[in-house]
Amino acid sequence: MRHDEVIPILDFGSQYAQLIARRVREKGVYSELVRPDIPAAELRAMKPRGIILSGGPSSVYEANAPKCDPAIFDLGIPVLGICYGMQLAAYVLGGQVKPAASREFGRAKLHIVSTDPLLKGLPDDTAVWMSHGDQIHELPPEFVALATTPTCPFAAARHSSRPFWGVQFHPEVTHTPRGEQVFHNFLYEICKCAGTWTMENFVDQTVRHVREQVGGGKVLCGLSGGVDSSVVAAMLHKAIGEQLVCIFVDNGLLRKNERELVETTFRDHFKINLRVNDASEQFLSGLKGITDPQQKRKIIGKEFIDAFKREAADIKDARFLAQGTLYPDVIESGHGYAGTAANIKIHHNVGGLPAELGFELVEPLRDLFKDEVRKVGEVLGLPENIVWRHPFPGPGLAVRCIGDITPERLRVLRDADEIVLEELTANNLYRKTAQVFAVLLPIGTVGVMGDARTYDSVIAIRAVESQDFMTADWARIPYDVLATMSNRIINEVRGVNRVVYDISSKPPATIEWE
Ligand code: XMP
Repeated sequence: MRHDEVIPILDFGSQYAQLIARRVREKGVYSELVRPDIPAAELRAMKPRGIILSGGPSSVYEANAPKCDPAIFDLGIPVLGICYGMQLAAYVLGGQVKPAASREFGRAKLHIVSTDPLLKGLPDDTAVWMSHGDQIHELPPEFVALATTPTCPFAAARHSSRPFWGVQFHPEVTHTPRGEQVFHNFLYEICKCAGTWTMENFVDQTVRHVREQVGGGKVLCGLSGGVDSSVVAAMLHKAIGEQLVCIFVDNGLLRKNERELVETTFRDHFKINLRVNDASEQFLSGLKGITDPQQKRKIIGKEFIDAFKREAADIKDARFLAQGTLYPDVIESGHGYAGTAANIKIHHNVGGLPAELGFELVEPLRDLFKDEVRKVGEVLGLPENIVWRHPFPGPGLAVRCIGDITPERLRVLRDADEIVLEELTANNLYRKTAQVFAVLLPIGTVGVMGDARTYDSVIAIRAVESQDFMTADWARIPYDVLATMSNRIINEVRGVNRVVYDISSKPPATIEWE
């Protein structure tokens, strides 16, 4: 989709490239990653307000270090180079870049030596985050130093006649507390942006775009009740109303009341045409006796596609399939650009549909980060309990019911899980945690109840804090809350006599137990 204002970021492989795009968007300007070697003519055709060169792990003198088209400095469009991006510009424009005497990593004190729009509003001394081996040793002629740190003489600089600015520090990370001011200055003082990237505008634009794409055609949408598919459904409903048909597959592996929540929200509240396919028997009979997690995933993936197909076969002349693809998925699959970043998530996504189904895809959230999806959900009027939902994996409770999956074991897990979530919400911790759930372990342990010995199941509570779910730390849930969860589970859930708390971080552990 075309956006009124765009700031392309040439991605030289920085682990922070996506973060730069998010910071720019937070300031109200659409930004996306592009290949580092994008030709200047192609960049010009995007009509960008400004261009950002990201950091990266290379050294400009390495033979295969990523380079940019030098002609981008002749476009007359403001360019901000960050770390490697600054060194590259200095190198291309004739300066000397050398390894610093010591690798600079961590907090440094930035001292402003020259007034400039880029640093407007910053105090003379401020903390910044440095992470680099090389630095500019000698500024090219026509460059002006703007700020220094004790070990970096050109921590910020600009070209005296061309619209180029560079910073050696990382304004995008939270360890640079005034970094957002630097972005604000670049976007508004230098690039003269209008700031049109709001989620309200995005909804209006997307509604128009979807209408153009599908015309009078019918669109199917696999609804899971998770944030992404819910926002897709609400967006499409706004755009095309009755032309949208949502399919919700009940795989028998849902949390308590999950199906009811989806039904009341989408059928009753939004009046969306929702078809619920109850395939729980097929799923559970397919999973009977299976304990190997990978095999469970395979069976669930196949059953899901079968169930979806069965339901879709009933809907005549549907040409389109709506999916909740997000911007990080686009980047990870290497579609958006060359994909140089080293940190690539391996997808084990179960619950997706294969291309062979033959539908044309409608992907209204392709340009969005997760936090933007939630904002769009709010703009579209989705209730808070959907917008702020913790993620729930496609294979559902199967990855949390370790060992045999039986109706009785699922009942135990569901009841325990519900108590965990109730107590979490009652103690105001739901929004403060990223994902919290119960796991049923495949072992029995001994206990006493009254005068009798019991030999019952163990429930583990898993609670994590995480930004991106690629890394996570165990959440420090207060002992009192854990105590209530444990007491209630043991007293109220028949078949459980012990509760344990998972205190592992990811990596090396994962979030799910499988
Ligand atoms: P792990 O366990 O790998 O999980 O740390 C990372 C995140 O991914 C979720 N997850 C899935 N989501 N389909 C999904 O849609 C899946 O097959 C799947 N497996 C794990 C998990 O809940 C966590 O948020």
